[in-house]
Amino acid sequence: MTDIADVLLVHGGTPLEGEIRVRGAKNLVPKAMVAAVLGSEPSRLRNVPDIRDVRVVSGLLQLHGVTVESGDRPGELVMDPRKVESANVADIDAHAGASRIPILLCGPLLHRLGHAFIPGLGGCDIGGRPIDFHFDVLRSFGATIDKRADGQYLEAPKGLRGCKIRLPYPSVGSTEQVLLTAVLAEGVTELTNAAVEPEIEDLICVLQKMGAIISMDTDRTIRITGVDSLGGYTHHAVPDRLEAASWASAALATGGDITVRGAQQRTMMTFLNTYRRVGGAFDINDEGIRFYHPGGPLNAIALETDVHPGFQTDWQQPLVVALTQAAGLSIVHETVYESRLGFTSALNQMGAHIQLYRECLGGSACRFGQRNFLHSAVVSGPTKLQGADLVIPDLRGGFSYLIAALAAQGTSRVHGISLINRGYENFLDKLRGLGADIELPVPRPASQERTGAVA
Ligand code: EPZ
Repeated sequence: MTDIADVLLVHGGTPLEGEIRVRGAKNLVPKAMVAAVLGSEPSRLRNVPDIRDVRVVSGLLQLHGVTVESGDRPGELVMDPRKVESANVADIDAHAGASRIPILLCGPLLHRLGHAFIPGLGGCDIGGRPIDFHFDVLRSFGATIDKRADGQYLEAPKGLRGCKIRLPYPSVGSTEQVLLTAVLAEGVTELTNAAVEPEIEDLICVLQKMGAIISMDTDRTIRITGVDSLGGYTHHAVPDRLEAASWASAALATGGDITVRGAQQRTMMTFLNTYRRVGGAFDINDEGIRFYHPGGPLNAIALETDVHPGFQTDWQQPLVVALTQAAGLSIVHETVYESRLGFTSALNQMGAHIQLYRECLGGSACRFGQRNFLHSAVVSGPTKLQGADLVIPDLRGGFSYLIAALAAQGTSRVHGISLINRGYENFLDKLRGLGADIELPVPRPASQERTGAVA
């Protein structure tokens, strides 16, 4: 069990109403910070959220000799990679904690230093989270990988050369691995079956600003022509569409009305269509999106997660909480992570009716259908939720528990809330500003902050 300083008391039943702001995407900012290592000049990243994942990556860069400082504006980071150096393996291991970012530092460090080290990796417990694609990618570029007790040691004795790669699945991290390695590799790299999430496009924009040559075809093919050197960049990070959707789901589940400043229609179109099908309402303007429950019953739907431009897996968990309030049977098929529905057992303890299945329900057959994973759900609603003792399992599941606790009658004790700091900036103040009735049982001394994982 977590210590008391990591517990939040949530007195539910109050609709969340008001306005919050989302800043740069958690799934872009750390990667843009890694890209800065490739440059021969300082880079300036704007719209950076104050979340733990950013602090972990700042520390990792600093261990490698990159200076990371706040810029003149709020939310601006300036990174100077001109003195990149090797870091002590034990320090990397200790600092990275359960972070997944060291794997993405490999290409840049192989280019800059000729070697790299990856400690054991973590991340959210939502499936196996293997890194085999990453290793295959790095080997294709000419890296050698030596597995030892404390981690993987990589070298590129003959330098890194462009190559043809076809990903077995459009993996976000593996696509980023290719981009961050190919931009300075000798010759042309052709990547097929690439992921094309908006955060990847934004990383491509960052790299292009640095001097890279990258083109994207409509069929998930990305071509990169290696260049001899890259400069720095100044970039405003794409807003966090995953955080925005979490607040949108909170508005729906609590019968509330939340304006998310910074939310962008362009990166949320699939979510917005689904939100409307469920019965949620939204108004879009240049500043952001207002999400609200228009009154009346919500509709049960069939939902299948997929890679972009499909329904993003990270949107699934918060929306499932809202689906417990919809009239009828909703079917959810999770096709990206095999274990991303485990969080629903706690919702059932609160009064929800959610049944998990091994079969692929409600959509096409996916990779998990024959592999015994409980990756489909039938949610029958509407159900009244009651406050409960909840232990946060992962980042999005954790935020979903907060939504459920806010929608429930009575008081919930939510354990492990520090995990949410990894991806949701200032979430306690945002919740209070929206009228949530929450309390921390005892003040949390800053010294008890724990280093967390990068999802
Ligand atoms: C990124 O994870 C995000 N994390 C995830 O966000 C997000 O859910 C995911 O992309 C999908 O959009 C960050 O950007 C930091 P993947 P990533 O490689 O890159 C399999 C959140 O809550 N796979 O696209 O690690 C893998 O098991 C987090 O914000 C392999 O089999 O995800 C999964 O089934 C959680 N071998 C699928 O591919 C590999 O080597 C997609 O994973 C790599 C991946």
